[in-house]
Parts: sequence; C-alpha cells; structure tokens
Amino acid sequence: MNRIEAEERNRFLARLAGDFSIPVPVLRSIRGAFHEEMAHGLAGKPSSLRMIPSFVTRPTGGEKGRFLALDLGGTNCRVLGVELDGRGGASITAASRFVVPAALMHGPGGVLFDFLAGSVHSFFREHRREKPPERVLAFTFSFPVEQRSVSSGTLLGWTKAFTASGVEGEDVAVLLSAALERRGIGFVRVAALTNDTVGTLLAGGYADPSCDMGVILGTGTNACYPERPGRIRKLPGSRGGSEMIVNMEWGNFNRLEANRFDDLLDAASPNPGRQRLEKMVSGMYLGEIARLAVREMMEKGLLFPGTDGSAFSEPYSLATESLTLPARGDAAGLDSLGPGSASAEDRAAVREIGRLVAGRSARLAGSAIAAVLTWMDPGLEKDHAVAIDGALFEHNPGYRADIMETLDSLLGDRAAAVRLVLTKDGSGIGAAIAGAVAVQAAPEAG
Ligand code: BGC
Repeated sequence: MNRIEAEERNRFLARLAGDFSIPVPVLRSIRGAFHEEMAHGLAGKPSSLRMIPSFVTRPTGGEKGRFLALDLGGTNCRVLGVELDGRGGASITAASRFVVPAALMHGPGGVLFDFLAGSVHSFFREHRREKPPERVLAFTFSFPVEQRSVSSGTLLGWTKAFTASGVEGEDVAVLLSAALERRGIGFVRVAALTNDTVGTLLAGGYADPSCDMGVILGTGTNACYPERPGRIRKLPGSRGGSEMIVNMEWGNFNRLEANRFDDLLDAASPNPGRQRLEKMVSGMYLGEIARLAVREMMEKGLLFPGTDGSAFSEPYSLATESLTLPARGDAAGLDSLGPGSASAEDRAAVREIGRLVAGRSARLAGSAIAAVLTWMDPGLEKDHAVAIDGALFEHNPGYRADIMETLDSLLGDRAAAVRLVLTKDGSGIGAAIAGAVAVQAAPEAG
C-alpha cells in the first residue's frame, strides 16, 4: 500500500469513527426517549418497550426449598438442581448442559420442547435421581413473553437465532408441561416462567438489597427493574399492590440513529424492524456489523489489497469474540478469519473497526442503564447495584470501562452511586427464587 492509499484508508477510518460515535448530547437524548417509551409501555400504549410485568417482586432472602431450573436462551440449554436455605444462602446441587442443535432452533416447536423435556429427563438419569427431590421447575425462557402470571405467558416473537414454528402466540409453560408429560415425567410441575434478566436481578438481590436492576449483555440484550405500585398503569390492580419487577425488553428500543451497516444488518435479519437496540449492542450482531464495514473497505480496495476478495463474504462469519478481544489489545485473532496474508496495517484497521463497534455498543448500554436508574431515582439519591450477566460484559474489561465512562458523563458525581456487578447465577439461583415466590402463591393476572 503506497502513501496515497494509506492516507485514503486513514480518511475512511476517520469517517467510520464518525458513523459509530455518539456525542454526549445524543446519549442524553436517548435517556429522554427511553423515559417516554417506558411510560407508554407501562400504560399499554404503543411503544417499542414492551414493559412486561413479571408477577414477581424482589426476594427477601427468606425464600426456601429445592427446585429444578431449566434455562433456554441461546445455543445451550441447562438443567440445574438448586437449594435455597431461607437465610440468603443458595447452592447449585447438580447441573447438566446440553447443546441445542441448530436444526431445532428453526424446526417445529414441538421437537424443540421435546428436546427440553428430554434434557430434564437426562438430568435425572445423570444425577441418579430415581426419586427426584426437586419436582418444582422454574423455566428461564429468554425471549419476549407476555406474562399472564408468574407461571404462564405467551411468546410474542422469537429473537436472536430462534425461529421454531408453532411457538409464537402460545403459552410456553403449557408447551413445556405437555412435553414433560410426553416424556413420562409429568410429575414435574412448571411453577415459574422467568426472563433471564429477572433471574439475574433475583440472584443479585438475594444477598444484596441495593440491587435494583438486572441486565443481560450477551448474545441478546435486555433489562428489568422493580416498578413502584401504581406505575404499571396497564395492569389493573397494581395500584394497591406491592412493587413488581418489569421485564423491559429493551432490545426492541428503536429511537436510535442507525447507520448504513445497521440498516443492512436489519434488512437481512429474520426480524427486520425489530430488536433495533439489540442489533447495535448485543454479541450476536457486533461481529456482523464489523464484517459489513470490513467488506465496504475491501470493496473500496482499502483492505487486504491483492487478495481475491472472498474473505469475510459469508454473513456472520466474523465472530464477535474474535473481534472485541483483539480490539482491546489482546493477541489478534484474524488468522482464521481473513486472508492469510493480512499485513500489520490490515490487522490494525480491523482492530480499529472492532473497537468502534464495541465502543458504541458499550455507550448505548451505558445510556440505557442511566435511563433506567434515573427513571427509578431521578436525583440518584440511593445507591444502586446493577446485576449484569453475559459474555460481552464478562470477557471484555474495556467494555465495563466504556459503560462506566458513559455513566460518568451522563450522571456526573452521582455515577459513584452505581455499582456494576457481574452476576452469573440468574438462570439457576434466580430462577429458583422465582420458583419459591411462585410456590408462595404470587398474585395471578385476571
Ligand atoms: C430477548 C430477551 C432476553 C435477551 C437476553 C433478547 O433477545 O428478547 O427476552 O432477555 O435477549 O437474553
């Protein structure tokens, strides 16, 4: 690459930085837009935020019992035995993990649920539970579900990589119960149906009363928080009741300025127009956004010059992990991805793209967190622990730093009142707490 080409490449990267930057006033305006959408969602008006009541409150620490937890949210499904001692102590007594075959994510829903019931059955066998002590099951199902009670709810629409047929519009707890029956383990009762964000908040709050937000920053993204009585205007009877955790489904927030790569990605996705925030923030999509930018540079002859141009042509071939880690200064992971002959400049350019895409994701996540905290506590008078799970947050130290920096610029001194806590037990301990709450007869919807 000669000097003129190098200058052109640098100009391109500088323009790209502009495409992915979000100036602080725009981050601030996201907060306002979030508050409007939250108010509309809670009132049952059209909104990109569903604001779904979960029929669960925060734990007291006194929840007790032995539970089964079944977790479906991505490429793995987990079955866990969990024991809550009623004094704030919780332990996972047994665990099995199963890979969900890709074909099942896209096939008939009945087969997917048979696989889930089969996983519970295998768990019993693996852990020699001829007479299982846990017969109450909490189902962590990490998709948008309109809950009707703590233990029932219909799938509004698949997200992430799932498209299985015959599940949208159905009660997923009923589908699971029927599959357990078919598998000969109908004695297992599906007592709770929980979103992963709710499980994360419950797990975080079991030991820490200042924990009032659950966030997932992984394959998908979403958040929940405890809403005050009377503010869930679409739920008759909430006025006199106690606080209730609301699953925001913030991945669908859409009052954002998308760039040309976001629009290309959205148009080619199975759910165009939906999950716009998720498509800019979560791990499933960051690699693909970067791949689209890499392709544009290649088409302009600014990257991997002299190669046949076939590298990075396959959609979703650039994994988010291989991109964000090198972007944070770790060993470059390009060899398996790009043309073998990538020069140091090529690698630096791809790393820069990764840094821009991941940096924007963290700033959007930070502004969304700030929006929810200021909705709950406008003056940020209290301390807030935010329970966060997901590989994006867990494995990228720079990602946490970027969120904190965003909180600093949006909240000023009060950012010191916010603690981001990695919380990994949501789908185990958190789900079990939801099971315990359900068993103690939480209120049912009309
Ligand atoms: C789903 C949410 C879930 C999030 C994180 C999103 O795609 O709609 O329900 O909480 O992913 O797993």
